[in-house]
Amino acid sequence: MRIDVVTIFPEYLQPLRAALLGRAIERGLIEIGVHDLRDWTHDVHRAVDDAPYGGGPGMVMKPQVWGEALDDVCTERTRLVVPTPAGRPFTQELAHAYAAEEHLVFACGRYEGIDQRVVTDAARRMPVDEISIGDYVLVGGEAAVLVMVEAVVRLLPGVLGNPVSAEQDSFSDGLLEGPSYTRPEVWRELAVPEVLRSGNHALIDRWRRDQALERTYRRRPDLLDKLDEGSLDSRDREV
Ligand code: ADE
Repeated sequence: MRIDVVTIFPEYLQPLRAALLGRAIERGLIEIGVHDLRDWTHDVHRAVDDAPYGGGPGMVMKPQVWGEALDDVCTERTRLVVPTPAGRPFTQELAHAYAAEEHLVFACGRYEGIDQRVVTDAARRMPVDEISIGDYVLVGGEAAVLVMVEAVVRLLPGVLGNPVSAEQDSFSDGLLEGPSYTRPEVWRELAVPEVLRSGNHALIDRWRRDQALERTYRRRPDLLDKLDEGSLDSRDREV
C-alpha cells in the first residue's frame, strides 16, 4: 500500500516514520510520502489561503494550489481522504476498508476548510471521503491523519507481530474489549479474577464475553443498539 499526505506542516507527520509505522516502512509493507502544499504555489508569498466568500472568520484554502497538488499526487488508483470535523465518522469498519486500498491520499486542510470545489472536482475522477475522527475541533487535519494511518496500517498483513490481536480488538465484534491482567497474581492487595487462573477456557471465554458486554453497556450503550441481534446468544441477553 502507498500513502501520501499533503499538508502545510510536513514536520507534523514525522511520527509516521516512528515505531510500528517506521518498521512497516523498513520492511517494505507500506510506502509513505509527505508533501508540502506550498511546493505547488507560484507567488512569492507562497500563499495557500484567502478570505471566505460571504464573509466570516478565518481563511479558506485556495482551490488552485490544492488542485495542482492533487493532480500530481493522485493516480487512477487513489482513494482521497479529506479530514474535517464536518465529515462522516472514522470507524474500525472504515479502517478495514482503507486497509484494502492500493493508494490513499490524505489532504490536510486547516479547520476552516478547503474550498469545497476541490472535493467536488476530485470526486469527478476518484472516490473522495470527508472524514471526522470525533466530535471535537482540531487546528488542522494532520493529527487526524496520524490517527487514521495508524488504525489502517496495523491491519495490514505482517504489520502486527500477532495477527490475532487485530482480530480480537475492541469493535471487531461490535463490543468494547474487557479488562486484561498479567503477573503478579496479587498486586497492592488487588487479585487477578479467579476465573482467569482456572485454566478452563470455555469459562474464560464466557467471562470475557460478559465483561465486554457489561463494559459496553456502561460506557457505550449506543454500540449495543447497533449490534446485530443474531450475534447475541441467550447468555448474552442475561448480562
Ligand atoms: N480537522 C479538524 N478537526 C477534525 C476532526 N475532528 N476530524 C478530522 N479532521 C479534523
